[in-house]
Amino acid sequence: MKGVILAGGSGTRLHPLTRITNKHLLPIYDRPMISYAIEALVNAGICEVMLVTGGTHAGEFLRLLGNGHEYGLDRLLYAYQDRPGGIAEALGLAERFAGDDPVMVMLADNIVESSLRPTVERFEDQLTGARIVLSEVDDPAHLRNLGVPELDSEGRVVRIVEKPETPASAYAVTGIYCYEPGVFGVIETLEPSGRGELEITDVNNFYVARGDMDYDVRQGFWGDAGESIDAYYAVNDHVRAHGANNG
Ligand code: TTP
Repeated sequence: MKGVILAGGSGTRLHPLTRITNKHLLPIYDRPMISYAIEALVNAGICEVMLVTGGTHAGEFLRLLGNGHEYGLDRLLYAYQDRPGGIAEALGLAERFAGDDPVMVMLADNIVESSLRPTVERFEDQLTGARIVLSEVDDPAHLRNLGVPELDSEGRVVRIVEKPETPASAYAVTGIYCYEPGVFGVIETLEPSGRGELEITDVNNFYVARGDMDYDVRQGFWGDAGESIDAYYAVNDHVRAHGANNG
């Protein structure tokens, strides 16, 4: 299994901080945000990663991460996204890197407390389709800003709705996804959404409709540091007090 870390985008919700740098270079406690995603994939047993970024600070990632050896990676490759055309578009840039291997994709503003290794292992057994990671969110107002799965009586995902008026479950879809190599063919069929982006939720709903979507529910903390300035500081506080990627 290979890893793909997505660190492009506009980061408008963290303006003006992100007018002067890439969101994923901002600090979380004592390290740049991007280093937590690298560490999460390394802890999950992934040795080859492609980092996709864009904008005017792409070179800083190379300066920080180099060839990735210091972080425990065998190979770290880079791709440049010309414009923030969406998470699915960014993933599409990793097609040749992935080749015939399945991928674990991680949004670089997501921070997790415990290991992603169980998800990698279950996806290796699953073989086809997609696997997403859910996290329980108690606050319905918060869920209204996230992707929320609707589950049937047997716990299967029926659909995923972005920013639902009425959340159909108490779970958020985190920015951690596993896909079969065929995902790149799915991305090619996507049309841009109303906001002009290729949406990862459309990819996920493709696999839901095919009956080939499974999930894990995350134990322990999950945070999206790019959601708002308050979320950014909440993630900082949590990591400072409890750490991240704690095995
Ligand atoms: P988002 O948080 O949805 O988008 P954003 O980072 O542009 O932020 P904002 O909505 O505040 O403007 O993206 C989630 C992650 O996906 C983010 O950490 C970076 C990555 N991403 C890309 O790599 N390329 C893209 O085109 C987009 C939109 C996001």
